[in-house]
Amino acid sequence: MQITTSDLGLAARVQHLTKTYGSGESTVRALDDISVGVRRGQFTAIMGPSGSGKSTLMHIMAGLDTPTEGRVWVGDDDITDLADTELTLLRRRRIGFVFQAFNLVPTLDVAGNIALPIALDGRAPTALERARIDLLVDSLGLADRLTHRPHQLSGGQQQRVAIARALATAPDLLFADEPTGNLDSRTGREVLQLLATASREQGQSIAMVTHDPIAASYADRVLFLGDGRIVADKPRQTPEQISAYMLAAEVAA
Ligand SMILES: Nc1ncnc2c1ncn2[C@@H]1O[C@H](COP(=O)(O)OP(=O)(O)O)[C@@H](O)[C@H]1O
Ligand SMILES: [Mg+2]
Repeated sequence: MQITTSDLGLAARVQHLTKTYGSGESTVRALDDISVGVRRGQFTAIMGPSGSGKSTLMHIMAGLDTPTEGRVWVGDDDITDLADTELTLLRRRRIGFVFQAFNLVPTLDVAGNIALPIALDGRAPTALERARIDLLVDSLGLADRLTHRPHQLSGGQQQRVAIARALATAPDLLFADEPTGNLDSRTGREVLQLLATASREQGQSIAMVTHDPIAASYADRVLFLGDGRIVADKPRQTPEQISAYMLAAEVAA
């Protein structure tokens, strides 16, 4: 009998995942034989130096990019060989993503951008989704920006719109690449509280890339990447423990 991703208590996983870019002498090995899972209902932080493979790992787990070698599961579905159209549907229905570069639609206003995943699914928001969006707009301080378009917003405001959009449908699985990178510390804490609450109270499984030890301390688990490999996998850490580990790893490198 095959052991499934759910049997393992995981929401997504990769096995023997390798990703290379380019060919010949210019080949870059972004991920090097990684096997890891995102635990269901947990908030996982992913840390590591710039270029260590964090974004690539999240993109592949979210079905936005494909592996060179290895397999990828979302829930019990092996998505490794899915066609683009199937991956698009899977992402739209089950996965939220907050991109490092926000990826807002320039021609849509804030309200339109937040409701986009629902519109793309060809339906109107449910009453529950409308209530959730109102709450997100409120707690992210976007209420007086709903009719603005992305170019009329600051980087931090655009980032908050991207976060509201990713949480609007309460996806089982949420990936966020540096979601607090452009935020002041108070708004950053607000976002981290939102993510922690989403996993604790709604059972959403969340993976977040961050450079910030304080942000990572909100997570239940902290994964450290180095040179395309997982170099440490730790339970919840204080910011001081995380900083100390990062410092020691840097000295050792
Ligand atoms: N589309 C791409 N083409 C070529 N190299 C890439 C591409 N995307 C990422 N890389 C390379 O793969 C490695 C890992 O990148 P990335 O996953 O973005 O790291 P991180 O998010 O940890 O900064 C880096 O060396 C980066 O230059
Ligand atoms: Mg990155």
